[in-house]
Amino acid sequence: MSRIEPMTDHAELLRWVKEVTELTTPDQVVWCDGSEKEYADLCDMMVAKGTLTRLNPKLRPNSFLALSDPSDVARVEDRTFICSKNREDAGVTNHWRDPAEMRATLSPLFSGSMKGRTLYVIPFCMGPVDSPLSKIGVELTDSPYVVVNMRIMTRMGDQALKKLGKDGEFVKAVHTVGRPLAKNEQDVKWPCNPEKYIVHYPETREIWSFGSGYGGNALLGKKCFALRIASTQGRDEGWLAEHMLILGVENPQGKKHYVAAAFPSACGKTNFAMLIPPKLYGGWKVTTVGDDIAWIRPGADGRLHAINPEAGYFGVAPGTSLRTNPNAIQTLAKNTIFTNVALTPDGDVWWEGLTDQAPEGLTDWQGNQNWTPESGTKAAHPNARFTSPASQCPSVDENWQSSQGVPISAFIFGGRRADTVPLVYQSLNWAHGVFVAASTGSETTAAATGKVGVVRRDPMAMLPFCGYNVGTYFTHWLKMGEKLGDQAPLIFGVNWFRKNADGKFVWPGYGDNMRVLEWIFSRIEERGGATETPIGFMPRFEDLRFEGLDFGPEQFHAVTRLSRDEWMRELDTAGEFLDGLGAESPIELREMVGAIRTRFQSESAQVSPLIGSGVSPTF
Ligand code: OXD
Ligand code: MN
Repeated sequence: MSRIEPMTDHAELLRWVKEVTELTTPDQVVWCDGSEKEYADLCDMMVAKGTLTRLNPKLRPNSFLALSDPSDVARVEDRTFICSKNREDAGVTNHWRDPAEMRATLSPLFSGSMKGRTLYVIPFCMGPVDSPLSKIGVELTDSPYVVVNMRIMTRMGDQALKKLGKDGEFVKAVHTVGRPLAKNEQDVKWPCNPEKYIVHYPETREIWSFGSGYGGNALLGKKCFALRIASTQGRDEGWLAEHMLILGVENPQGKKHYVAAAFPSACGKTNFAMLIPPKLYGGWKVTTVGDDIAWIRPGADGRLHAINPEAGYFGVAPGTSLRTNPNAIQTLAKNTIFTNVALTPDGDVWWEGLTDQAPEGLTDWQGNQNWTPESGTKAAHPNARFTSPASQCPSVDENWQSSQGVPISAFIFGGRRADTVPLVYQSLNWAHGVFVAASTGSETTAAATGKVGVVRRDPMAMLPFCGYNVGTYFTHWLKMGEKLGDQAPLIFGVNWFRKNADGKFVWPGYGDNMRVLEWIFSRIEERGGATETPIGFMPRFEDLRFEGLDFGPEQFHAVTRLSRDEWMRELDTAGEFLDGLGAESPIELREMVGAIRTRFQSESAQVSPLIGSGVSPTF
């Protein structure tokens, strides 16, 4: 049950809640306990208000649909700020504002911003409650939609307060939709404000979010805490907060390795985290520890160990289907909050890609009835989401809540590239792997920028999420490798998106990514065959298995060919990017550009047998 009375004697927490209450002047303050009843009551209340629609319990038990305001549908990177004391500490990739100036800007906006609403106090734990790697946050929000989503995405309520104790440390997160209500004013279904601020004060570990009720702007445990604030905690405390999925891969002999993989948005990260191996891989198992974020620390054994700080998935719905990701489809079968998908006449949900044919009589994400494919609009917003408990995922790993985390044997960095970057390659060593990660780029998709095919550098897929100077972040990575020595995970680059001369994808992707994962597994085990190329070790045709696929040396060549011209351009732009990051960008990485260029130009590179079976490499 929700309680009006505070259930803690944590003096600083009480002081801060009082301070924010005085600033935002809500009608009441409710301390959330995280119980099922509290969740059910809040959902009922939002159904009564029209914010949520209860889905047909026979088709989608205990599940709801929320439709946001059409102006509030995604993270707002251009309204996201890192307010460190010194501008250099935020670096050139973040929007920086002086913290005092930002506080002065925000103060009048937050002042009275919760009038007519309830302030919910949400204590939450990022990571398993019993884990020494976990951290506590408290979000103060005037959005009940945020409360119910946070209950799925984090360990929330009493359990977090208990871990916090009387004087534990916590991250302070304040969120308002920025839409105070006048006396007797009728609320709208999705309150928000055209003006938005997503603000981080890394030194004081605070988050202040104004004006949006959506996703990463409002569920402050996710990108704001678990990546932007946590990355600065990791820098200070000697660990890594990464935008990575974590999966386990086990061979038929029962040997298992965990790998963590970073991909920018729109690269099939959730599908990879929940991969189902093709038939040929009888006896192999892929299991899911996390789909989006990893907190990674050296353990007592000298290896890196990772936890998933989240308890649920906030996944992109469009494109998710029984063909692309059957595990996700089962995960969202019940107890799920959908946002901005379409509603079927029988009270279920639909989105582009779920089935080949759209059902008749859909209500689209903007509430328009009788949507048809001829409407010329999307039934679901391209960034429509499902919020589902991780425990419902059929592939969830048996150790996904392990307090010590899972040992990481390899890191994988991927992007979406039509050319240049091969299907898979392994870095020559840790520092070179940091270069691979730091120079990762991905082609923009129309949905994100309106421009297709422009390579955006997205180091470690952390560009919008690193809470401090990205050059210092690279140095932190380099130092971690020095500390780990020969216990450091191997580092790989992957690209599922190479296109042939006809502009078609060559690699089938999805479950067949298992074939690449098997090679990575064999490299971890020091068995897998490879050849050395100017960009690292690569499998030859005979080093991957292709049974059950119509995939011969020609296709292999199409996904692994290294073109010297393409790589000269790639190295030029990667070098420009690293140089443009400012004084903190490590020289060691910048010098690697020249070293790789030299390797491409050398005699031996031209004759290195990239691909067996008579197909010669092209440099
Ligand atoms: C996400 C993202 O929403 O990376 O997870 O954009
Ligand atoms: Mn993400």
